[in-house]
Amino acid sequence: MIATGLLKLLTAVTGSLPDDDGSSFWMPPQVSTVAQGVDWLFNFILAISVFFFLLIVVAMVIFVIKYRYKEGQTAEESPTHNMALELTWTVIPLILVIAIFIFGFKGYLDMSTPPSNAYEVLVEGQKWNWSFTYPNGYIDSDLHVPVDRPIRLVMGSQDVIHSLYIPAFRVKMDVVPGRYAKAWFQATKPGEYDLFCAEYCGTSHSDMIAHVIVHPVGEFETWLEKASNFLETMTPVDAGRKLFQVRGCQQCHSTDGSAKTGPSLLGVFGRTQNLADGSTITVDENYIRESVLEPQARVVAGFEPVMPTYQGRLSDPEIMAIIEYFKALDGASSEE
Ligand code: CUA
Repeated sequence: MIATGLLKLLTAVTGSLPDDDGSSFWMPPQVSTVAQGVDWLFNFILAISVFFFLLIVVAMVIFVIKYRYKEGQTAEESPTHNMALELTWTVIPLILVIAIFIFGFKGYLDMSTPPSNAYEVLVEGQKWNWSFTYPNGYIDSDLHVPVDRPIRLVMGSQDVIHSLYIPAFRVKMDVVPGRYAKAWFQATKPGEYDLFCAEYCGTSHSDMIAHVIVHPVGEFETWLEKASNFLETMTPVDAGRKLFQVRGCQQCHSTDGSAKTGPSLLGVFGRTQNLADGSTITVDENYIRESVLEPQARVVAGFEPVMPTYQGRLSDPEIMAIIEYFKALDGASSEE
């Protein structure tokens, strides 16, 4: 156990062992084409920092002990300067920082220039979920990509600054409202990896989590076709549940009766709802539709008017499916 830990610690500093996944004591697995280079430079800078930290602190301690004041001692005249010593401590760090700049700049250029044949996925960050739009218009809450193919992300934000962070790919890019941020990567191994928001963006920042699913060769197209046809292949209730999960609704609305940022949707259909302006309404298809498209029109009492509009982001059949799903949330069926 200790031996494995030590080995991991050692590989963190020295680089990875040839046959493992590239993970180390403090690094996740290396699953993109740039991961190895990023880790190498990180370890290079870390090694330099550790070396000079020890050199300086050890020398300091030795000098403090060796030259401490002794009874009856008078100070000697100290030499004004030492050319050889001063050149050494200037030239060596200069070479090191130039080396770090060259490696870092080369890596930066590689990471900011996607290959021209890259597959494009549109990303949108919003308090507090991610949505990924594929070239055929299908939107998912997870990022699905084929293995061994460059993927270009064009990213925007609906509200505040978010930051898309995929540790296993060593990819991190701020997503700023009012402009497009770009990032690219090429995954090297099929599997499921974490995707985080790395910029504090409010109450549920830590829930702004998605997955990256890297599909094996040939399986991505099959997945995309199947996923895109969900309105035709699923019942309206199931399609509505899927939309509720992948389009960011469940980040703020529970289906078990507990209040989150927004009211719970358990038994919502047909309920008499108190509104913020003091009036009441019976929840029907029209009220749900209005609340999706114009969330601020009639806000439920006790909740902040913070829901973003889904105008232009959900089609009519999709809204119908969501309404059918809400009708099924009557408390009698076993919903999660
Ligand atoms: Cu989005 Cu933190």
